[in-house]
Amino acid sequence: MKFSVLSTLFLATVATALPSSEVERSTSFNATVLACKALKLVYSTQVFFPGEANYTAENEHFWTPTDYLSPTCVFTPKCTTDVSSAILILTGLKATFAVRGGGHMPIPGYANTIGGVLIGLTDLNEIQLSSDNSYVSVGPGRRWEEVYAYLEPYGLVALGGRVGIVGVPGLLLGGGISFYSNQHGFASDNVVAYEVVLASGKIVTATSTQYSDLFWALKGGGNSFGIVTRFDLLTYTSPTVCAGITEIPSTEKDLFLSAVANFGQYGSADPKAAVIPSIFMLASLNITVYTSALFYDGTNCTQPALANVTAIPAIENTYGSTTLATYVEGTDALIADGTRQAFRVVSSLATAEALSIVHDTFVDMVTANIWDVAGLQASVAFQPVTKNFIQQGINKGGNPQGVDISKAPYFWMVENFSWTDPADDATIYAFAAQVTDIIEAKLSAAGQAAQYHYMNDAGLGQEIFQNYGAGNLAKLRSIRAKYDPLKVYTNLMPGGWKVDAA
Ligand SMILES: Cc1cc2nc3c(=O)[nH]c(=O)nc-3n(C[C@H](O)[C@H](O)[C@H](O)COP(=O)(O)OP(=O)(O)OC[C@H]3O[C@@H](n4cnc5c(N)ncnc54)[C@H](O)[C@@H]3O)c2cc1C
Ligand SMILES: *[C@@H]1O[C@H](CO)[C@@H](O)[C@H](O)[C@H]1NC(C)=O
Ligand SMILES: *[C@@H]1O[C@H](CO)[C@@H](O)[C@H](O)[C@H]1NC(C)=O
Ligand SMILES: *[C@@H]1O[C@H](CO)[C@@H](O)[C@H](O)[C@H]1NC(C)=O
Ligand SMILES: *[C@@H]1O[C@H](CO)[C@@H](O)[C@H](O)[C@H]1NC(C)=O
Ligand SMILES: *[C@@H]1O[C@H](CO)[C@@H](O)[C@H](O)[C@H]1NC(C)=O
Ligand SMILES: *[C@@H]1O[C@H](CO)[C@@H](O)[C@H](O)[C@H]1NC(C)=O
Repeated sequence: MKFSVLSTLFLATVATALPSSEVERSTSFNATVLACKALKLVYSTQVFFPGEANYTAENEHFWTPTDYLSPTCVFTPKCTTDVSSAILILTGLKATFAVRGGGHMPIPGYANTIGGVLIGLTDLNEIQLSSDNSYVSVGPGRRWEEVYAYLEPYGLVALGGRVGIVGVPGLLLGGGISFYSNQHGFASDNVVAYEVVLASGKIVTATSTQYSDLFWALKGGGNSFGIVTRFDLLTYTSPTVCAGITEIPSTEKDLFLSAVANFGQYGSADPKAAVIPSIFMLASLNITVYTSALFYDGTNCTQPALANVTAIPAIENTYGSTTLATYVEGTDALIADGTRQAFRVVSSLATAEALSIVHDTFVDMVTANIWDVAGLQASVAFQPVTKNFIQQGINKGGNPQGVDISKAPYFWMVENFSWTDPADDATIYAFAAQVTDIIEAKLSAAGQAAQYHYMNDAGLGQEIFQNYGAGNLAKLRSIRAKYDPLKVYTNLMPGGWKVDAA
């Protein structure tokens, strides 16, 4: 509270000294520089400038170096009030800013800024199980591996990333695909409350009964509405699971693709089962292999739902009994960190025909066009999405994604590109857009396309909100207008998927 009062007083002083007309007129006036000075005065140990070790650490707290930019300063709030005060200072001075959670969205400028203030949420790291164990309150500085490790002693889980290093806030604001989604829907369908700092600086808690329009919008509407400072997540009992990764040689391609197509069609018979099958192309070794994460929520790992995949002769298969926390800890080591990365999404009906279009087009085009790019890894992960996944969201009050249940099941695919030389950035971005356009055109021509584009796996320029359920974009925009009439989180915080830019 002390900081809030101080900064508000400071802001009032600044505002009196510098009428907003002067902001436009003066050439010496720089809103960001002044905002950094103001923040530094109030929060002397929480504001960092270029050259300081903590500035570098915060600016490079991203999955991919494509996201390291050049904020004028970094502010690291330690509590919700700090965020609220910072918003008052930033809006009062009309300074631009960005907000970063786990830093895993691989789009430059979506959670960082050139010349603005970077708000790094690292220190908002609350994690607390409710007294009745029914939900866990998590701050946006947390990563999923920390949530799972915290819940493990209680035999509980919450719905979140299938990779532990991913940040909590970004995943939830775009929906969130979990190993438990076929049972319980999007991770965001399982949020029971959001604490949010609105553009006015006001701190509110949105639930299904208070600020319920905001609550609905945050389940998949992204960062146009406020800064979320706490998520309350439903917990589920899941003390042991079966999980692991199988790696299948290219000689078994046909068996692999048919098992994936079958899982897409029939996997919903057992919602406790989940797979993330991928084509994985490694240019330096001139190889393509097929991998799949395999998951079952239970103690008996011999399950008919996964049998078609586990029956394929594998190079390696680590599937077996474990806990969610142990599994993600083990796979973190396998996830690239420090190389350049880009994503792109495609979605289709969950059929063998769609799978073969995506597979053949992707493999042929990668080999023909970018195989010589230094350090290239290219993959497509096919995420099977069942009817029950979507039905769960409807049962829990609905979400802005409003995925069409009538055409389910789907594959929501993410193309991943990873490379090493910044000089290849333009080549990869152009290729990623091109191969995606061609795949989408072929899927459409074959009647295999699906409309939904998953925000969190998307690449720059893809249409996200345009493909949400009918009417939902207009609804999101009106909720944005209600809670942020001056477009603070749209114009002063330009990074991210914005409902007004769709
Ligand atoms: C290796 C890897 C594995 C992945 N696995 C999965 C998976 O299993 N399931 C899945 O669904 N997705 C997965 N993803 C995608 C992931 O959900 C997105 O990358 C997500 O954006 C990451 O969240 P973050 O907090 O780390 O992101 P950030 O880059 O920090 O933020 C993403 C966006 O959210 C905004 N934002 C962040 N925090 C807040 C906040 N508190 N309030 C308001 N806005 C905020 C940022 O401004 C930015 O626009 C994976 C990504 C990677 C790189
Ligand atoms: C800088 O970051 C380190 C941890 O990386 C932390 O211990 C230290 O307190 C930070 N410095 C300041 C001034 O906050
Ligand atoms: C304000 O100063 C920062 C840091 O010097 C700079 O990056 C930014 O471009 C300036 N903004 C304007 C509007 O001049
Ligand atoms: C890469 O492998 C393919 C077969 O999969 C082969 O035709 C090609 O010659 C190989 N390229 C190199 C450079 O070894
Ligand atoms: C595990 O489940 C399979 C398939 O339902 C069944 O055949 C098998 O007997 C079970 N194993 C144990 C140890 O219960
Ligand atoms: C396994 O494959 C067979 C056909 O080979 C199919 O009939 C069956 O439904 C598949 N099961 C699953 C769970 O995919
Ligand atoms: C591709 O990205 C997705 C992120 O949604 C991740 O789950 C998957 O593990 C990645 N695959 C590879 C091979 O890197």
